[in-house]
Amino acid sequence: MSSELPKAAALFTLADYETAAKKHFDQGSWDFIAGGAGQERTLAANLAAFDRVRLQSRVLTGAGLPETKTTLLGRSWSAPIAVAPMAYHTLADPEGEVATARAAGAAGLPLVVSTFAGRTFESIAEAATAPLWLQVYCFRDRSTTRRLVERAERAGFEALVLTVDAPRLGRRLRDLRNGFRLPDGMVPANLTGGDYASPSAHALTEFDPALDWSVIDWLREVSSLPVLVKGVMSTSDARAAVRAGVDGIVVSNHGGRQLDGAPATLDVLPGITAAVGGACPVLVDGGIRRGADVLAALALGADAVLLGRPVLHGLAVGGERGAAHLLDLITEELVEAMALTGTPSVAETGPSLVGAEPEAA
Ligand code: FNR
Repeated sequence: MSSELPKAAALFTLADYETAAKKHFDQGSWDFIAGGAGQERTLAANLAAFDRVRLQSRVLTGAGLPETKTTLLGRSWSAPIAVAPMAYHTLADPEGEVATARAAGAAGLPLVVSTFAGRTFESIAEAATAPLWLQVYCFRDRSTTRRLVERAERAGFEALVLTVDAPRLGRRLRDLRNGFRLPDGMVPANLTGGDYASPSAHALTEFDPALDWSVIDWLREVSSLPVLVKGVMSTSDARAAVRAGVDGIVVSNHGGRQLDGAPATLDVLPGITAAVGGACPVLVDGGIRRGADVLAALALGADAVLLGRPVLHGLAVGGERGAAHLLDLITEELVEAMALTGTPSVAETGPSLVGAEPEAA
């Protein structure tokens, strides 16, 4: 572990972690993590959508202690929360994804490992005690993607999460203005060759910009793992994903880092879960910062959420221990929100919890 937690008394919320994390980064790295595309309207919208939610308390329900356990793709999670795929955890802590894997394992929550992880799949797998999924970017050179998938599968990863909202990277003005380049020596540990120092320049030359739904069949040919798609934001794309036979959908606008002006994920979630109609699990990410946000996402039909930037804040503040504490904090907040809304289990949530009507399919 790289550092000790500051006085625990200062860290009661994920927002406290964000404040404490800032001093652990140089400006360029902080902006790379915190920033979004364009004028950051979508980044702000994700947070604002959760801020607008008002939960319906319910009393004398006899609910007892809330049960947060969730089963997804045949595996039990201690809560409906997983760590979102993010490049280079090594920016936040030298141990990078190895520390995150230990933290997620301690919390009983899965970790989605980015194609651009700063540590090898094998070392992450060795540290993990909860499910690992691989986030896949599909490169123009399919053999590179194929090798990544095969390696992860051999290392024991349990699912593939194909990111479909990035034919190129969004225009992230903070990075452009900072001339952001990865610190010397920081490389994607599972890729060889190439100049990765500028993430957006690399994506422009290497990512396949012309993918279509047939990529799902291709992934099924190269791997027997379940395939989820991440980056679905419309009901029509959700229906197309179901037709393509995916094993799960992640409603995501990439944390506001891709199409600036896209709606908040929470706002499109109910329509998408209604369109999917239970055909496969639906997860959501973007702007989740409190247990109450997790409950709101579940109420609007999500089976689970992914947590992004806050996990890097936890890592930066306290390494493995910081990330583990942060995951425990949001899980504990979820338990509190469930208790005060009379919600006995994650399966027993619904739109009435947030004062909404069920969506017509
Ligand atoms: C990301 N995200 C991302 N997504 C992905 O599919 N592959 C990746 O390599 C990355 N890398 C990445 C790096 C950093 C620094 C951030 C902040 C985000 C997007 C991520 O998976 C997720 O969609 C958002 O971060 C969720 O929003 P919040 O929780 O950060 O608001």
